[in-house]
Amino acid sequence: MLPFTRPTVGEEEQQAIKEVLESGWITTGPKVKAFEEALEAYIGGGVLVRAFNSGTSALEAALIASGVGSGDEVILPAMSFTASANVIVRVGATPVFVDVDLVSRNLTVKAVEAALTPRTRAIMPVHFAGLAVEMHAIYDLAERNNLVVIEDAAQAIGTGIGGHKVGASGNPVCFSFHPNKNITTIEGGALASSDPQFIRRIERIRFHGIERDDEGGMDVPEWGGKMNMPDVGAAMGLVQLPKLEDFNHRRRELALRYIKRLPKHSAMVIPKDVPGHSWHMFAVCIDYLSLGTSRKAFQEQLQMMGVGTGIHYPAMHLFSLYRHYGYGPGDFPVAERIGKQTLTLPLFPAMSDEDVDQVCDALNKLLSGEVTP
Ligand SMILES: Cc1ncc(COP(=O)(O)O)c(C=O)c1O
Repeated sequence: MLPFTRPTVGEEEQQAIKEVLESGWITTGPKVKAFEEALEAYIGGGVLVRAFNSGTSALEAALIASGVGSGDEVILPAMSFTASANVIVRVGATPVFVDVDLVSRNLTVKAVEAALTPRTRAIMPVHFAGLAVEMHAIYDLAERNNLVVIEDAAQAIGTGIGGHKVGASGNPVCFSFHPNKNITTIEGGALASSDPQFIRRIERIRFHGIERDDEGGMDVPEWGGKMNMPDVGAAMGLVQLPKLEDFNHRRRELALRYIKRLPKHSAMVIPKDVPGHSWHMFAVCIDYLSLGTSRKAFQEQLQMMGVGTGIHYPAMHLFSLYRHYGYGPGDFPVAERIGKQTLTLPLFPAMSDEDVDQVCDALNKLLSGEVTP
């Protein structure tokens, strides 16, 4: 059975974790510091990086440290994992959804512009599945309207954008190292920013609001949470990070093979390769109704043929929590179509070319009617 994703971890990661467990210091310590430095070197552009216990925490801290809160509106795509919107609610602000492009699944500057109101405080673009949003136009718009930009790069570690890595913009950019991401610390996240003052606040918010002075005293000048990454996770990240370029290279090879070999069928939309894409996921859209079937039946049939699939994601504005903000069906037709039709195909670095061919064959049989879902 081919799962839709599987973390690539082995002996080296086990050894690194064992060393931390035996060291007597297993929570935040030297490994976290080393991991942060390694991420700074990898991302480049002189940014500072701070590690978190999740991408969600990093986003929450970024919003608080940017001064986003009650009465503010934050524009984000209706197509993302629910964490993107939940953190906005958590800080007391209002999520303002916009529709996305069918193929890139990313928001567009046009949609963001149309959603601006006098209460707009921030934009949270999501680099969906490792494909970078066209950030130039977003930053131009933000500058003209005096808005904060917080990049949700949970799915985009290693993604290239305009000759740089995502994360090097200098503005707050948040990553996730959840096990299905391109590298993992089991659970974990990170925030990059080039502003030392901002980072100082991030450090406080990350750990109980605590600030220490040179005499060993401490103060709590503001609220802070408990968002620190343990050394066990960072030790794993330190082993994973040097493998990231190879992982992403292999992901691209597999994605290109899918693009070449998947059947061209009017009921299926296939993603496009773009330079810099880190191919966190490979997801197609299928019009199951036109094939006389449902996604559930389609997935079950694929499962019987040895192919695991995922759904990333239902459109967020249709969740009960967000309907309370007045959203409903028909508001964002493209995100809703993706939500209903999307199917994430297996993609992870340890897959073989033959695995891709197996998935393509299975889809071919289902789309051609040779096998009825
Ligand atoms: C787009 C997006 N944002 C935020 C998150 C949250 O990251 P984490 O699971 O590390 O909290 C995820 C995780 O899946 C994500 O995909």
